[in-house]
Amino acid sequence: MNASSPSPAQNQAATATLYGGVTNRRITVRDLATAKQRGEKWSMLTAYDALTAGVFDEAGIPVLLVGDSAGNCHLGYETTVPVTMDQMVMLSAAVVRGTKRAMIVADLPFGSYQESPAQAMRNAARLMKEAGVGAVKLEGGERSARSIELLVEAGVPVMAHIGLTPQSVHAFGGYPVQGRGDEAAHQLLRDAKAVQQSGAFAVVLEAVPAELAAQVTEQLTIPTVGIGGGPDTDAQVLVWTDMAGMTAGRVPKFVKQYADLRTVLGDAARAFAEDVRGGAFPAAEHSFH
Ligand code: KIV
Repeated sequence: MNASSPSPAQNQAATATLYGGVTNRRITVRDLATAKQRGEKWSMLTAYDALTAGVFDEAGIPVLLVGDSAGNCHLGYETTVPVTMDQMVMLSAAVVRGTKRAMIVADLPFGSYQESPAQAMRNAARLMKEAGVGAVKLEGGERSARSIELLVEAGVPVMAHIGLTPQSVHAFGGYPVQGRGDEAAHQLLRDAKAVQQSGAFAVVLEAVPAELAAQVTEQLTIPTVGIGGGPDTDAQVLVWTDMAGMTAGRVPKFVKQYADLRTVLGDAARAFAEDVRGGAFPAAEHSFH
């Protein structure tokens, strides 16, 4: 190696990517900014417990979201609205404990930040101090800009969430696609620019037309994370129970199901019950003498 050729460490730094490049520490907002510059796409999954989060961490998912979708996907509520700060702190702490490498982002639940930037700060601090998360997410574009600004000034990395914001389910009257029509599209662009301007390190675009999500992605310097936003966002997020086939009943059109865990688990439970009923379990090898 001569003086001008890069050392192996420099080589590794130059080629390090989110997948496989970062192995001995957690992913940071700087890694995600670098990924945007390189055009490297990344994935995010929700997680609500240590065990599942550990599986995703080992699989190399760089960012895990303790979403308030825990309300309907983990805690048995109809919507995300009833989820409390105490529940988010408990779930987030478990996800942090179960992982080594992923950046953990936790949702500020409904009612925990809308009152004022000071309320947002108080609750973001709880998620960072009590649960140990690396970033928080909150819903809203222009309307949340002041809170994002205060959090970022105080050293809290913020992921914004615009488009379909599930905490407003009752105001929307369901979960309709957002950003359709000129005025709505312009508002979405204004929202995206407002959260970037306020210092958010990334923004989730939920249920917006693919062409609009592509336009936002092109105009922003921070990464966009799509869910129902077509193929051109910088990253993609799915709710893990949808992605793995754990959700009962219909899933949204934008979900791709990569496994059928609900059937696998149900079959395992039925086989166990059958073995117990028939006396096949426990066998000699499962017993102490
Ligand atoms: O709560 C959640 O899981 C989310 C994702 C849908 C982005 O906000």
